Amino acid sequence: METLQRTRVMSGTRPTGRLHVGHLVGALGQWVELQSTSEVFFEIADIHAFTTGFEDPQHIRDSREELVLDWLAAGVDPLQATLFLQSGVPEISELHTLLSMIVPLSWLQRVPTFKDQIEALGADISTYGFLGYPLLQLCDIAVFRASKVPVGKDQLSHLELGREVVRRFNHLYGPTLVEPDAILSEFPAVPGTDGRKMSKSYHNTIDLADDEETTRKKIRSAVTDPKKVRRNDPGEPEICPVFALHHLCNDARVPWIRDHCRTGELGCVDCKTELAETMNAWLRPVRERRASFDRATIDRIITDGTDRARIIAADTVRDVKRAMKLL
Ligand code: TRP
Repeated sequence: METLQRTRVMSGTRPTGRLHVGHLVGALGQWVELQSTSEVFFEIADIHAFTTGFEDPQHIRDSREELVLDWLAAGVDPLQATLFLQSGVPEISELHTLLSMIVPLSWLQRVPTFKDQIEALGADISTYGFLGYPLLQLCDIAVFRASKVPVGKDQLSHLELGREVVRRFNHLYGPTLVEPDAILSEFPAVPGTDGRKMSKSYHNTIDLADDEETTRKKIRSAVTDPKKVRRNDPGEPEICPVFALHHLCNDARVPWIRDHCRTGELGCVDCKTELAETMNAWLRPVRERRASFDRATIDRIITDGTDRARIIAADTVRDVKRAMKLL
């Protein structure tokens, strides 16, 4: 029977704001592919959002539906995927408490994102919960006994820790939990309108939820090759984020744009106008799908998914407690 079962895949996103086209071609594209071949669980990681955003619970609350809308807009199908709320599955928190007993503090302290984020965001996130974030992430995964986790490179150290914790548990109490492996997206990072990696914290994103006029405005103010000052100056498309974005939505025209930018025949204003129009056309079905769901439907999708998730999670926690002789 075991071999006939589909691979179980789990991933999650913190509800901290809207998703953008970088997510659409990266993580979300991968999620949509996986949902037809694997048994997938996608989590609204609302408890995780408190690790860095505990001062603004309303923002986390408001981002919940927005996040699910972005997922659905991208093509995540609630009939194929289980979409659930982390705080609605208390078994995750219970597992977190149980596993915290066997995790040496040094394992958590040496996770690179711990030091990096403390330095980047300041001392007010050096909480107990923030230190334990990678363990909580493991519990998200382990409670479903998922073996595959689609994530970005920045999350690899969390999975590494997670595997060590699983090994330690299984060694101490007998084989109970599954060691999770990452699935890395092959899609290269998408540049934002300022040329850095597209990221909410850089304010350089084109969001799935943006309207067409906002998209035009953002593209109009995007940076281009700084040496191409006048319209007829020759440009260097390889260093231009506008050129890179054409690859997403206007692939057939890329060779023409490259050549005419280099010769100076194509000016940045025209190039951006074309990008804005093709970007909007490309995102139109996504945005239409986003607009087609009402609040009640979203609530039902989350409630149904969370109910399904809890059944599996309860099963795992029962096995964990048995292994620890608590039951
Ligand atoms: N830590 C992930 C991030 O910040 C989000 C996340 C929470 C997650 N739980 C998860 C990812 C479980 C994969 C599996 O992006």
